[in-house]
Amino acid sequence: MGLLSSLQQDVGRCLFLPAHGRGAALPNSFRRLLQRRAGYWDLPELPHIGGPLESEGAVAEAQQQAAEHVGAQRAWFGVNGATGLLQAALLAITRPGQAVLMPRNAHRSLLQACLLGELTPVLFDLPFLNDRGQAAPLDAEWLINVLGALPLPTKAIAAAVLVHPTYQGYAGDLKPLIHLLHNEGWPVLVDEAHGSHFLTDVDPLLPRSALHSGADLVVHSLQKSAAGLAQTAVLWQQGDRVDPTRVERSIGWLQTTSPSALLLASCVSALNEWQQPQGLRRLKCRLDDARHLTKRLRRSGLPLLSNQDPLRLVLHTGAIGISGLDADAWWMPRGLIAELPEPATVTFCLGLAKHRGLEQRLRKAWTSLRSAHPDRGAQAAFEPAPLPLVGIPDRSLAMAWRAECETVPLDAAEGRIAAELVCPYPPGIPLLVPGERLDRQRLEWLRRQRILWGDQLPERIRVVRASEPAHEPVAGHG
Ligand SMILES: Cc1ncc(COP(=O)(O)O)c(C=O)c1O
Repeated sequence: MGLLSSLQQDVGRCLFLPAHGRGAALPNSFRRLLQRRAGYWDLPELPHIGGPLESEGAVAEAQQQAAEHVGAQRAWFGVNGATGLLQAALLAITRPGQAVLMPRNAHRSLLQACLLGELTPVLFDLPFLNDRGQAAPLDAEWLINVLGALPLPTKAIAAAVLVHPTYQGYAGDLKPLIHLLHNEGWPVLVDEAHGSHFLTDVDPLLPRSALHSGADLVVHSLQKSAAGLAQTAVLWQQGDRVDPTRVERSIGWLQTTSPSALLLASCVSALNEWQQPQGLRRLKCRLDDARHLTKRLRRSGLPLLSNQDPLRLVLHTGAIGISGLDADAWWMPRGLIAELPEPATVTFCLGLAKHRGLEQRLRKAWTSLRSAHPDRGAQAAFEPAPLPLVGIPDRSLAMAWRAECETVPLDAAEGRIAAELVCPYPPGIPLLVPGERLDRQRLEWLRRQRILWGDQLPERIRVVRASEPAHEPVAGHG
């Protein structure tokens, strides 16, 4: 089937992103725009419209108004997803040769930014939930240990990155973490792609937003956690640790010269939605519905794990010995489409649309999955990656990625330097970063990850050619 027909097909129950649920939750103002003659709205950056980097025009006004509304100093809309804005933000607060502190669960876009900006990622490990093999949010005590184990002098590090919440909706309190990082003299960029709705004050039980926790730069994906189209995002800036001119220069370096007016309009309408009492009421209803649904499903015996975002349902299929990837493969042809299958869980994104009959649908899906995979015990505990609490790649990421390389079977990669990211998607969190050396323990762990992730992980791996000269060591290392 061709793409155009595929897009018109009914694929089943939408429990995936974008959060607008195939248009069901798109704001009315945006729907009215789409009702105009097709393509009518596809305009260039005319003076009265402008773009994210123009100081005048409707886009500039909307950005300023959005920033004022949330108490930020500046806002920039993005048309290349959270990816584009995270990369622009990171490049704005660093210079080539510097290092950045970031967690091991950073999205691949941030590692790619390190590559573009010739930065050294100082990667720190996170608390590990071994019943499901996922990272948990860190707390201040954990971060203090990380800061005590830095492999580089503090001054070699230019900035810090945090991820909040995770894809599965796990979140903690960022305020003390940001305070600790600011005390080191670093600006803090938070990837809050999955937590745009935390910025509303509609629900006291939602975690506090990164912006209200004092972050200097925060990226929201408006398709993941608001009612925007795919690729819409916003970058917020506050305080005086970051120079907005550098952010603008950085966005200008990476952004298309023809930002889509449709996507920009979608950014505006998604953010406006939560400036109106009606939009906020709708969000509150979705959050209440989701909590109610979770409670009822748990009562019916579905093992839903606890998290901090009611709009993400994390079903622990591993509790009955079924991999989340197998469960997803079982449900997908039966019309139940999840967002994030992982080795022990399936995460459903409820998004912002109303779901009629979902409780019954999920109960039935669970019963049919169980009866198709009877008599299994719970999965064994997952093992964390054999990594130090904090570490840096052996070689510069940019040099390893650009080096002459070859592809070898995992079994033959011991002692070699990785030349590419190894990264199941979703969630897009790298298991291996270019420049990291593959010691025996890491390789054995990767081999076991292949059993868990199946085809998502390669059998062969790209490594730096042995004949390549050893490049200069990464910042301050060696
Ligand atoms: C935590 C996180 N940050 C950033 C991104 C990138 O978002 P986008 O795909 O909108 O560019 C993702 C995508 O999965 C993500 O999960």
